[in-house]
Amino acid sequence: MKELPSNWRPAGSTRVAAVIGEPVTHSLSPVLHNAGFQAAGLDWVYVALTVAAGGAPAALDAMRTFGLAGLSVTMPHKEAVAQALAGHLSGAAQRLGAVNCVRRDGDELIGENTDGRGFVDALRHEAGVDPAGACIAVVGAGGAGRAVTAALAECGAARILVINRNRARAEQAVALAGSVGVLAEESAVGEADIVVNATSVGMGVRPPAPAVMPFDPRLLRAEQVVVDLVYQPIRTGLLEAAAAQGAHIVNGVGMLLHQAAYAFELWTGVAAPVGAMRVAVLGHLAQ
Ligand SMILES: NC(=O)c1ccc[n+]([C@@H]2O[C@H](COP(=O)([O-])OP(=O)(O)OC[C@H]3O[C@@H](n4cnc5c(N)ncnc54)[C@H](OP(=O)(O)O)[C@@H]3O)[C@@H](O)[C@H]2O)c1
Repeated sequence: MKELPSNWRPAGSTRVAAVIGEPVTHSLSPVLHNAGFQAAGLDWVYVALTVAAGGAPAALDAMRTFGLAGLSVTMPHKEAVAQALAGHLSGAAQRLGAVNCVRRDGDELIGENTDGRGFVDALRHEAGVDPAGACIAVVGAGGAGRAVTAALAECGAARILVINRNRARAEQAVALAGSVGVLAEESAVGEADIVVNATSVGMGVRPPAPAVMPFDPRLLRAEQVVVDLVYQPIRTGLLEAAAAQGAHIVNGVGMLLHQAAYAFELWTGVAAPVGAMRVAVLGHLAQ
């Protein structure tokens, strides 16, 4: 892989990828992908585009018109893009009814969902943990919880305990896990080999604000792996409490990195320079 020269600037030949959403100006995707393009020597640039709710179909038309090379999709457009690209979805995007990445296939746009695979890649490559055969508690059944649950079932988890405040959403996640999915209560956290916080509880909460917990951390045991999908702060109150119990802790940066790396590969056909992307995002989060 040959890096771009330090004096590289966007030019007429530069290919453009983007993220659409609202809010989107604080997205970490430009940091990840521009570091990736630079390290891989690709004449590509990645920008964030604010697109208000209801604007997804027009944004897809714009992707076609402008010849955008790749598109990331974030709140509030993931479901609307899946609807707009019905019949042109990957298996994961179809099952979840949500798209977080659009790639081109000739003149066609294909909706993908890289979150679940990003989570499993992070477990394997960042934490050295294989979920195959494990009992896993997933706390939270929003978009991230559903993506994680479906991907864990696909890669051979033995049992997935789905715990969520809203029961209807919990049942949707259980259904995505097929025969290994179980609707569970908070107390089941102690039974799992791997515990995942897929709620938004803890996002943006830093000392001196008191820590907030998605479940009672006294349920945790030293033998467990505890994963928090929240990545801001990198070390959440839950991870602090889990570490204090002696558990092996995994932060949310790995999933963020690997879902982006998979999107990068879908767009460019080039292996993602994960090391450079990791350095860039950790540097940004440390600021
Ligand atoms: N690391 C990564 O790459 C990555 C990727 C995606 C998401 N995330 C993070 O994962 C988190 C969830 O994202 P999402 O897209 O799934 O959001 P979402 O679709 O809005 O779902 C939010 C989830 O959090 C639960 N929740 C919210 N407040 C709660 C509370 N006070 N007590 C208990 N449960 C609560 C919701 O439960 P109810 O259903 O009961 O309302 C739901 O399960 C966010 O912090 C997001 O930043 C990280």
